[in-house]
Amino acid sequence: MRYRLLTAAFAATAALNIAGPVQAAELEVTHWWTSGGEAAAVAEFAKAFDASGHKWIDGAIAGSGGTARPIMISRITGGDPMGATQFNHGRQAEELVEAGLMRDLTDIAEEGKWREVVHPSSLLDSCTLDGKIYCVPVNIHSQQWLWLSNAAFEKAGVPVPTNWEEYAAAAPALEEAGIIPLAVGQQPWQTTLAFQVLLTAIAGPDAYTKIFGEKDADLAAGEELAKVFEAAAQARSMSAKSNVQDWNQATNMVITGQAAGQIMGDWAQGEFQVAGQVAGKDYTCLPGLGVNEVIMTGGDAFYFPVLDDEEKSAAQADLAKLMLSPEVQVAFNLKKGSLPVRGDVDLEAANDCMKKGLEILAQGNIIQSPDQLMSADSLTQINDLFVEFFNNTSITAEDAQKRFVDLVANAD
Ligand code: GAL
Repeated sequence: MRYRLLTAAFAATAALNIAGPVQAAELEVTHWWTSGGEAAAVAEFAKAFDASGHKWIDGAIAGSGGTARPIMISRITGGDPMGATQFNHGRQAEELVEAGLMRDLTDIAEEGKWREVVHPSSLLDSCTLDGKIYCVPVNIHSQQWLWLSNAAFEKAGVPVPTNWEEYAAAAPALEEAGIIPLAVGQQPWQTTLAFQVLLTAIAGPDAYTKIFGEKDADLAAGEELAKVFEAAAQARSMSAKSNVQDWNQATNMVITGQAAGQIMGDWAQGEFQVAGQVAGKDYTCLPGLGVNEVIMTGGDAFYFPVLDDEEKSAAQADLAKLMLSPEVQVAFNLKKGSLPVRGDVDLEAANDCMKKGLEILAQGNIIQSPDQLMSADSLTQINDLFVEFFNNTSITAEDAQKRFVDLVANAD
Protein backbone atom coordinates (compact mmCIF):
# COMPACT_ATOMS: atom_id res chain seq x y z
CA MET A 1 0.00 0.00 0.00
CA ARG A 2 1.39 3.45 -0.91
CA TYR A 3 2.28 5.52 2.11
CA ARG A 4 1.40 9.23 2.03
CA LEU A 5 4.01 11.58 3.46
CA LEU A 6 3.25 13.02 6.87
CA THR A 7 6.03 15.04 8.50
CA ALA A 8 6.73 14.89 12.20
CA ALA A 9 6.50 18.70 12.30
CA PHE A 10 2.88 18.63 11.20
CA ALA A 11 2.39 15.85 13.69
CA ALA A 12 3.43 17.94 16.67
CA THR A 13 0.92 20.71 15.93
CA ALA A 14 -1.86 18.30 14.99
CA ALA A 15 -1.48 16.49 18.30
CA LEU A 16 -2.01 19.74 20.17
CA ASN A 17 -5.12 20.49 18.13
CA ILE A 18 -7.06 17.53 19.55
CA ALA A 19 -10.08 19.19 21.08
CA GLY A 20 -9.75 19.35 24.87
CA PRO A 21 -12.01 16.86 26.75
CA VAL A 22 -15.35 17.89 28.17
CA GLN A 23 -14.05 16.73 31.54
CA ALA A 24 -10.34 16.04 32.06
CA ALA A 25 -9.58 12.72 33.75
CA GLU A 26 -6.59 10.74 34.97
CA LEU A 27 -6.06 7.28 33.45
CA GLU A 28 -3.67 4.69 34.84
CA VAL A 29 -2.08 2.86 31.90
CA THR A 30 -0.24 -0.42 32.55
CA HIS A 31 2.45 -1.79 30.22
CA TRP A 32 5.80 -3.59 30.40
CA TRP A 33 7.92 -1.06 28.52
CA THR A 34 10.79 -0.34 30.91
CA SER A 35 13.92 -0.55 28.76
CA GLY A 36 15.55 2.67 27.48
CA GLY A 37 13.98 2.45 24.03
CA GLU A 38 10.59 1.31 25.30
CA ALA A 39 10.41 4.10 27.89
CA ALA A 40 11.27 6.69 25.23
CA ALA A 41 8.45 5.35 23.05
CA VAL A 42 5.71 5.10 25.67
CA ALA A 43 6.58 8.66 26.70
CA GLU A 44 5.23 9.74 23.29
CA PHE A 45 1.81 8.31 24.21
CA ALA A 46 1.91 10.01 27.61
CA LYS A 47 2.97 13.35 26.09
CA ALA A 48 0.15 13.31 23.54
CA PHE A 49 -2.46 12.22 26.10
CA ASP A 50 -1.41 14.98 28.54
CA ALA A 51 -1.42 17.49 25.66
CA SER A 52 -5.05 16.54 25.01
CA GLY A 53 -5.99 17.76 28.50
CA HIS A 54 -6.19 14.42 30.31
CA LYS A 55 -3.50 12.96 32.59
CA TRP A 56 -1.49 9.78 31.86
CA ILE A 57 -0.68 7.92 35.10
CA ASP A 58 2.14 5.58 34.15
CA GLY A 59 1.77 2.00 35.35
CA ALA A 60 5.00 0.47 34.04
CA ILE A 61 5.62 -3.12 35.22
CA ALA A 62 9.23 -4.30 34.84
CA GLY A 63 10.16 -7.74 33.57
CA SER A 64 8.53 -7.94 30.11
CA GLY A 65 5.22 -9.53 29.21
CA GLY A 66 5.59 -12.83 31.02
CA THR A 67 5.79 -11.01 34.35
CA ALA A 68 3.40 -8.12 33.65
CA ARG A 69 0.42 -9.95 32.12
CA PRO A 70 -0.48 -12.09 35.18
CA ILE A 71 -0.44 -8.88 37.27
CA MET A 72 -2.67 -7.05 34.76
CA ILE A 73 -5.08 -9.98 34.54
CA SER A 74 -5.36 -10.42 38.31
CA ARG A 75 -6.10 -6.72 38.79
CA ILE A 76 -8.85 -6.77 36.18
CA THR A 77 -10.42 -10.00 37.45
CA GLY A 78 -9.91 -8.86 41.06
CA GLY A 79 -12.00 -5.68 40.64
CA ASP A 80 -9.07 -3.26 40.64
CA PRO A 81 -8.93 -2.38 36.92
CA MET A 82 -6.55 0.14 35.38
CA GLY A 83 -7.74 2.64 32.77
CA ALA A 84 -5.93 0.94 29.86
CA THR A 85 -3.47 -1.88 29.50
CA GLN A 86 -1.06 -3.34 26.94
CA PHE A 87 -1.34 -6.88 25.63
CA ASN A 88 0.22 -8.38 22.52
CA HIS A 89 -1.74 -8.77 19.28
CA GLY A 90 -3.59 -12.03 19.58
CA ARG A 91 -5.34 -14.12 22.19
CA GLN A 92 -3.84 -13.00 25.52
CA ALA A 93 -6.94 -11.05 26.65
CA GLU A 94 -9.42 -13.56 25.17
CA GLU A 95 -10.76 -14.78 28.52
CA LEU A 96 -11.09 -11.23 29.92
CA VAL A 97 -13.13 -10.22 26.87
CA GLU A 98 -15.28 -13.36 27.11
CA ALA A 99 -15.91 -12.53 30.78
CA GLY A 100 -17.26 -9.10 29.76
CA LEU A 101 -14.53 -7.24 31.64
CA MET A 102 -13.14 -5.32 28.64
CA ARG A 103 -14.77 -2.37 26.92
CA ASP A 104 -16.36 -2.79 23.50
CA LEU A 105 -14.67 -0.23 21.22
CA THR A 106 -16.74 -1.02 18.12
CA ASP A 107 -18.46 2.39 17.99
CA ILE A 108 -15.14 4.23 18.26
CA ALA A 109 -13.62 1.93 15.64
CA GLU A 110 -16.49 2.53 13.22
CA GLU A 111 -16.40 6.29 13.78
CA GLY A 112 -12.63 6.24 13.13
CA LYS A 113 -12.95 3.86 10.15
CA TRP A 114 -10.34 1.56 11.76
CA ARG A 115 -11.20 -1.25 9.32
CA GLU A 116 -9.94 0.98 6.46
CA VAL A 117 -7.09 2.55 8.39
CA VAL A 118 -5.43 -0.45 10.06
CA HIS A 119 -3.03 -2.39 7.82
CA PRO A 120 -2.82 -5.39 7.71
CA SER A 121 -6.43 -5.86 8.78
CA SER A 122 -5.42 -9.09 10.53
CA LEU A 123 -4.30 -6.81 13.38
CA LEU A 124 -7.88 -5.70 13.87
CA ASP A 125 -9.08 -9.30 13.54
CA SER A 126 -6.86 -10.05 16.56
CA CYS A 127 -8.87 -7.41 18.48
CA THR A 128 -12.23 -8.78 17.32
CA LEU A 129 -14.41 -11.31 19.10
CA ASP A 130 -17.94 -12.16 17.95
CA GLY A 131 -17.83 -9.22 15.56
CA LYS A 132 -16.99 -6.64 18.23
CA ILE A 133 -13.66 -4.78 18.55
CA TYR A 134 -11.99 -4.74 21.99
CA CYS A 135 -8.54 -3.24 21.42
CA VAL A 136 -6.63 -0.61 19.52
CA PRO A 137 -3.55 -1.99 17.72
CA VAL A 138 -0.62 0.44 18.10
CA ASN A 139 2.33 -1.11 16.26
CA ILE A 140 3.75 -3.97 14.26
CA HIS A 141 6.74 -5.66 15.84
CA SER A 142 8.36 -8.40 13.84
CA GLN A 143 10.33 -11.01 15.76
CA GLN A 144 12.01 -12.15 12.55
CA TRP A 145 15.26 -10.19 12.86
CA LEU A 146 18.96 -10.86 13.47
CA TRP A 147 20.95 -7.90 14.84
CA LEU A 148 24.70 -7.95 14.23
CA SER A 149 27.50 -5.82 15.70
CA ASN A 150 29.69 -4.63 12.82
CA ALA A 151 32.56 -3.95 15.27
CA ALA A 152 32.50 -7.52 16.63
CA PHE A 153 33.00 -9.05 13.16
CA GLU A 154 35.70 -6.52 12.34
CA LYS A 155 37.52 -7.48 15.55
CA ALA A 156 37.22 -11.19 14.67
CA GLY A 157 38.48 -10.48 11.13
CA VAL A 158 35.41 -11.95 9.41
CA PRO A 159 32.97 -10.18 7.10
CA VAL A 160 29.56 -9.27 8.54
CA PRO A 161 27.34 -12.27 7.67
CA THR A 162 24.51 -11.94 5.15
CA ASN A 163 22.57 -14.96 6.47
CA TRP A 164 22.25 -17.49 9.30
CA GLU A 165 24.67 -20.01 7.73
CA GLU A 166 27.51 -17.47 7.41
CA TYR A 167 26.78 -16.27 10.95
CA ALA A 168 26.94 -19.76 12.48
CA ALA A 169 30.12 -20.49 10.47
CA ALA A 170 31.75 -17.37 11.96
CA ALA A 171 31.25 -18.62 15.55
CA PRO A 172 34.75 -20.17 15.99
CA ALA A 173 36.48 -16.97 14.78
CA LEU A 174 34.29 -14.87 17.08
CA GLU A 175 35.05 -17.08 20.10
CA GLU A 176 38.75 -16.96 19.20
CA ALA A 177 38.51 -13.15 19.41
CA GLY A 178 36.85 -13.41 22.85
CA ILE A 179 33.40 -12.49 21.52
CA ILE A 180 30.20 -14.35 22.46
CA PRO A 181 28.67 -15.33 19.09
CA LEU A 182 25.00 -15.09 20.13
CA ALA A 183 23.41 -13.15 22.99
CA VAL A 184 20.25 -14.69 24.52
CA GLY A 185 18.58 -13.71 27.80
CA GLN A 186 16.86 -16.07 30.24
CA GLN A 187 13.30 -14.67 29.99
CA PRO A 188 11.32 -17.75 28.83
CA TRP A 189 9.90 -16.23 25.65
CA GLN A 190 13.40 -15.39 24.31
CA THR A 191 14.43 -18.98 23.50
CA THR A 192 11.07 -19.75 21.86
CA LEU A 193 11.49 -16.56 19.83
CA ALA A 194 14.92 -17.73 18.65
CA PHE A 195 13.50 -21.15 17.77
CA GLN A 196 10.51 -19.93 15.76
CA VAL A 197 12.69 -17.42 13.88
CA LEU A 198 15.09 -20.28 12.98
CA LEU A 199 12.08 -22.40 11.97
CA THR A 200 10.76 -19.68 9.65
CA ALA A 201 14.19 -19.14 8.10
CA ILE A 202 15.22 -22.79 7.69
CA ALA A 203 11.92 -24.64 7.12
CA GLY A 204 10.10 -21.62 5.65
CA PRO A 205 7.18 -19.34 6.57
CA ASP A 206 4.57 -21.88 5.42
CA ALA A 207 6.00 -24.56 7.71
CA TYR A 208 5.95 -22.07 10.61
CA THR A 209 2.29 -21.19 10.00
CA LYS A 210 1.27 -24.86 9.55
CA ILE A 211 2.87 -25.80 12.85
CA PHE A 212 1.96 -22.83 15.06
CA GLY A 213 -1.33 -22.08 13.29
CA GLU A 214 -2.68 -25.47 12.15
CA LYS A 215 -0.85 -27.44 14.89
CA ASP A 216 0.54 -29.82 12.21
CA ALA A 217 2.31 -32.38 14.43
CA ASP A 218 3.38 -34.55 11.46
CA LEU A 219 5.25 -31.64 9.94
CA ALA A 220 6.74 -30.88 13.37
CA ALA A 221 8.05 -34.46 13.49
CA GLY A 222 9.58 -34.41 10.00
CA GLU A 223 13.05 -34.09 8.47
CA GLU A 224 12.68 -30.33 7.75
CA LEU A 225 12.12 -29.70 11.46
CA ALA A 226 15.04 -31.95 12.40
CA LYS A 227 17.26 -29.44 10.56
CA VAL A 228 15.66 -26.61 12.57
CA PHE A 229 16.38 -28.38 15.83
CA GLU A 230 20.00 -28.92 14.72
CA ALA A 231 20.24 -25.16 14.15
CA ALA A 232 18.66 -24.56 17.56
CA ALA A 233 21.37 -26.78 19.09
CA GLN A 234 23.96 -24.66 17.24
CA ALA A 235 22.34 -21.48 18.63
CA ARG A 236 22.46 -23.05 22.07
CA SER A 237 26.21 -23.55 21.87
CA MET A 238 26.73 -20.08 20.31
CA SER A 239 24.95 -18.54 23.31
CA ALA A 240 26.44 -20.77 26.03
CA LYS A 241 28.31 -17.88 27.63
CA SER A 242 25.43 -15.39 27.36
CA ASN A 243 24.48 -15.09 31.02
CA VAL A 244 21.97 -12.23 31.12
CA GLN A 245 18.28 -12.21 32.09
CA ASP A 246 16.48 -9.48 30.17
CA TRP A 247 16.28 -9.16 26.35
CA ASN A 248 17.63 -5.58 26.45
CA GLN A 249 20.68 -6.73 28.43
CA ALA A 250 21.37 -9.17 25.60
CA THR A 251 20.87 -6.33 23.09
CA ASN A 252 23.36 -4.26 25.07
CA MET A 253 25.94 -7.05 24.66
CA VAL A 254 25.63 -6.51 20.88
CA ILE A 255 25.69 -2.71 21.22
CA THR A 256 28.96 -2.93 23.18
CA GLY A 257 30.45 -5.61 20.90
CA GLN A 258 30.67 -8.12 23.76
CA ALA A 259 28.42 -10.35 21.63
CA ALA A 260 28.29 -10.54 17.84
CA GLY A 261 24.55 -10.94 17.37
CA GLN A 262 21.06 -11.40 18.79
CA ILE A 263 17.94 -12.96 17.30
CA MET A 264 15.30 -10.53 18.59
CA GLY A 265 12.24 -8.56 17.63
CA ASP A 266 12.68 -5.09 16.19
CA TRP A 267 11.98 -3.50 19.57
CA ALA A 268 15.75 -3.97 19.90
CA GLN A 269 16.03 -0.97 17.54
CA GLY A 270 14.89 1.30 20.36
CA GLU A 271 17.98 0.28 22.33
CA PHE A 272 20.38 0.89 19.43
CA GLN A 273 18.76 4.32 18.96
CA VAL A 274 19.06 5.28 22.63
CA ALA A 275 22.73 4.17 22.45
CA GLY A 276 23.22 6.49 19.45
CA GLN A 277 24.08 3.63 17.10
CA VAL A 278 23.25 3.89 13.39
CA ALA A 279 21.73 1.11 11.31
CA GLY A 280 24.07 0.07 8.50
CA LYS A 281 27.04 1.85 10.09
CA ASP A 282 27.28 0.42 13.63
CA TYR A 283 24.92 -2.54 13.33
CA THR A 284 23.46 -4.70 10.57
CA CYS A 285 19.91 -6.07 10.55
CA LEU A 286 18.92 -9.24 8.70
CA PRO A 287 15.15 -9.73 8.37
CA GLY A 288 14.28 -13.42 8.31
CA LEU A 289 17.92 -14.14 9.20
CA GLY A 290 18.75 -13.11 5.62
CA VAL A 291 17.05 -16.28 4.35
CA ASN A 292 13.28 -15.70 4.12
CA GLU A 293 12.50 -11.98 4.33
CA VAL A 294 9.15 -11.88 6.14
CA ILE A 295 7.51 -9.51 8.58
CA MET A 296 5.75 -11.13 11.54
CA THR A 297 2.78 -9.05 12.58
CA GLY A 298 3.46 -9.29 16.29
CA GLY A 299 3.29 -6.22 18.43
CA ASP A 300 1.06 -4.47 20.84
CA ALA A 301 -2.50 -3.35 21.39
CA PHE A 302 -4.24 -1.51 24.18
CA TYR A 303 -7.37 -2.80 25.89
CA PHE A 304 -9.68 -0.78 28.16
CA PRO A 305 -11.26 -2.48 31.18
CA VAL A 306 -14.93 -1.61 31.76
CA LEU A 307 -14.99 1.24 34.32
CA ASP A 308 -17.91 2.50 36.35
CA ASP A 309 -16.80 6.11 35.91
CA GLU A 310 -18.21 8.34 33.15
CA GLU A 311 -15.28 10.75 32.99
CA LYS A 312 -12.67 8.00 32.90
CA SER A 313 -14.69 6.15 30.27
CA ALA A 314 -14.70 9.28 28.12
CA ALA A 315 -10.95 9.59 28.63
CA GLN A 316 -10.54 5.93 27.55
CA ALA A 317 -12.26 6.75 24.26
CA ASP A 318 -10.01 9.79 23.75
CA LEU A 319 -6.89 7.69 24.43
CA ALA A 320 -7.95 4.95 22.01
CA LYS A 321 -8.49 7.52 19.22
CA LEU A 322 -5.24 9.30 20.00
CA MET A 323 -3.11 6.13 19.91
CA LEU A 324 -4.26 5.46 16.35
CA SER A 325 -3.94 9.07 15.13
CA PRO A 326 -1.36 9.56 12.35
CA GLU A 327 0.78 12.01 14.31
CA VAL A 328 1.00 9.79 17.42
CA GLN A 329 1.59 6.69 15.29
CA VAL A 330 4.66 8.38 13.74
CA ALA A 331 6.04 9.75 17.03
CA PHE A 332 5.56 6.48 18.95
CA ASN A 333 6.75 3.98 16.32
CA LEU A 334 9.90 5.89 15.42
CA LYS A 335 11.03 5.64 19.05
CA LYS A 336 9.77 2.03 19.50
CA GLY A 337 11.53 0.64 16.40
CA SER A 338 8.20 -0.80 15.26
CA LEU A 339 6.11 -0.17 12.15
CA PRO A 340 2.87 1.83 12.23
CA VAL A 341 -0.47 0.06 12.01
CA ARG A 342 -1.84 2.73 9.67
CA GLY A 343 -1.38 2.38 5.94
CA ASP A 344 -1.51 6.16 5.39
CA VAL A 345 1.56 7.43 7.22
CA ASP A 346 5.21 7.36 6.24
CA LEU A 347 8.04 7.23 8.74
CA GLU A 348 10.19 9.81 6.95
CA ALA A 349 12.83 9.57 9.66
CA ALA A 350 12.84 5.76 9.60
CA ASN A 351 16.30 4.20 9.60
CA ASP A 352 17.52 1.64 7.06
CA CYS A 353 16.26 -1.34 9.05
CA MET A 354 12.79 0.12 9.53
CA LYS A 355 12.72 0.95 5.82
CA LYS A 356 13.54 -2.72 5.07
CA GLY A 357 10.61 -3.71 7.27
CA LEU A 358 8.25 -1.26 5.56
CA GLU A 359 9.26 -2.65 2.13
CA ILE A 360 8.60 -6.26 3.19
CA LEU A 361 5.27 -5.20 4.72
CA ALA A 362 4.31 -3.38 1.50
CA GLN A 363 5.17 -6.55 -0.49
CA GLY A 364 2.75 -8.47 1.73
CA ASN A 365 5.33 -10.99 2.96
CA ILE A 366 3.52 -11.28 6.26
CA ILE A 367 3.13 -14.05 8.83
CA GLN A 368 1.23 -13.91 12.08
CA SER A 369 2.96 -14.10 15.46
CA PRO A 370 2.68 -17.15 17.75
CA ASP A 371 0.49 -15.02 20.06
CA GLN A 372 -1.96 -14.58 17.18
CA LEU A 373 -1.95 -18.30 16.30
CA MET A 374 -1.74 -20.17 19.57
CA SER A 375 -3.29 -19.86 23.05
CA ALA A 376 -1.25 -18.32 25.87
CA ASP A 377 -1.31 -21.64 27.75
CA SER A 378 0.09 -23.64 24.81
CA LEU A 379 2.79 -21.03 24.21
CA THR A 380 3.81 -21.12 27.86
CA GLN A 381 4.42 -24.87 27.60
CA ILE A 382 6.53 -24.38 24.46
CA ASN A 383 8.46 -21.60 26.22
CA ASP A 384 9.22 -23.99 29.08
CA LEU A 385 10.56 -26.62 26.64
CA PHE A 386 12.99 -24.19 24.97
CA VAL A 387 14.21 -22.68 28.24
CA GLU A 388 15.08 -26.21 29.33
CA PHE A 389 16.64 -27.09 25.96
CA PHE A 390 18.86 -23.99 25.87
CA ASN A 391 20.00 -24.51 29.45
CA ASN A 392 20.51 -28.27 29.49
CA THR A 393 22.93 -29.64 26.88
CA SER A 394 22.01 -33.22 27.86
CA ILE A 395 18.73 -32.68 25.99
CA THR A 396 19.53 -33.58 22.40
CA ALA A 397 17.94 -31.97 19.34
CA GLU A 398 16.04 -35.26 18.79
CA ASP A 399 14.71 -35.28 22.38
CA ALA A 400 13.57 -31.68 22.05
CA GLN A 401 11.88 -32.33 18.73
CA LYS A 402 9.92 -35.29 20.17
CA ARG A 403 8.69 -33.16 23.08
CA PHE A 404 7.84 -30.30 20.72
CA VAL A 405 5.72 -32.66 18.57
CA ASP A 406 3.66 -33.65 21.63
CA LEU A 407 3.12 -30.01 22.59
CA VAL A 408 2.04 -29.10 19.05
CA ALA A 409 -0.35 -32.09 18.89
CA ASN A 410 -2.06 -30.93 22.09
CA ALA A 411 -1.91 -27.17 21.45
CA ASP A 412 -4.94 -24.94 20.90
C1 GAL B 1 6.91 -7.70 23.33
C2 GAL B 1 6.30 -6.38 22.94
C3 GAL B 1 7.31 -5.38 22.54
C4 GAL B 1 8.56 -5.39 23.39
C5 GAL B 1 8.93 -6.77 23.93
C6 GAL B 1 9.97 -6.78 25.02
O1 GAL B 1 5.91 -8.58 23.75
O2 GAL B 1 5.42 -6.56 21.84
O3 GAL B 1 6.69 -4.10 22.52
O4 GAL B 1 8.51 -4.43 24.31
O5 GAL B 1 7.82 -7.45 24.39
O6 GAL B 1 9.50 -6.26 26.17
